[in-house]
Amino acid sequence: KPIYVLSGPNLNLLGVREPEIYGRDTLADIETRCVARVKDRGLTLVFRQSNHEGELIDWVQEARESASALILNPAGYGHTSVALLDALKTLSIPIVECHLSNPAARETFRRKTYVSLAATGVVSGFGAASYELAVEAAAGLIGA
Ligand code: DQA
Repeated sequence: KPIYVLSGPNLNLLGVREPEIYGRDTLADIETRCVARVKDRGLTLVFRQSNHEGELIDWVQEARESASALILNPAGYGHTSVALLDALKTLSIPIVECHLSNPAARETFRRKTYVSLAATGVVSGFGAASYELAVEAAAGLIGA
């Protein structure tokens, strides 16, 4: 089964959105790097982004049957969405929470993420490399 890599709101604007915080790589660049990391291990990724909370929840529910692990950058919804947390709690596969920035070192409202309550582990603060590290973590957790 593939590893699902889901990204939340505004991450479609990576590369132009606050590049001093989030870097200049686009989400497509990040996908290319993540795919390159796993291809020799026979792993595949399902890489998606949505600005809509309900769509992200639908994909998390889909992952229950279809994914071997889930990587999620919930973006702003991580700090607000009890519904996303509830969806994550229905999963029995590893969940890696991922952030480009280190939310703990930013505004106080970013210090809490609901998603962390369901995550196996969290990778934050390494820019685009956070996604690659999250892929490595997920691969390790599924023994690939
Ligand atoms: C983010 C951090 C969040 O606080 C923010 O709302 C984002 C991106 C990150 O990847 O650093 O949109 O998840």
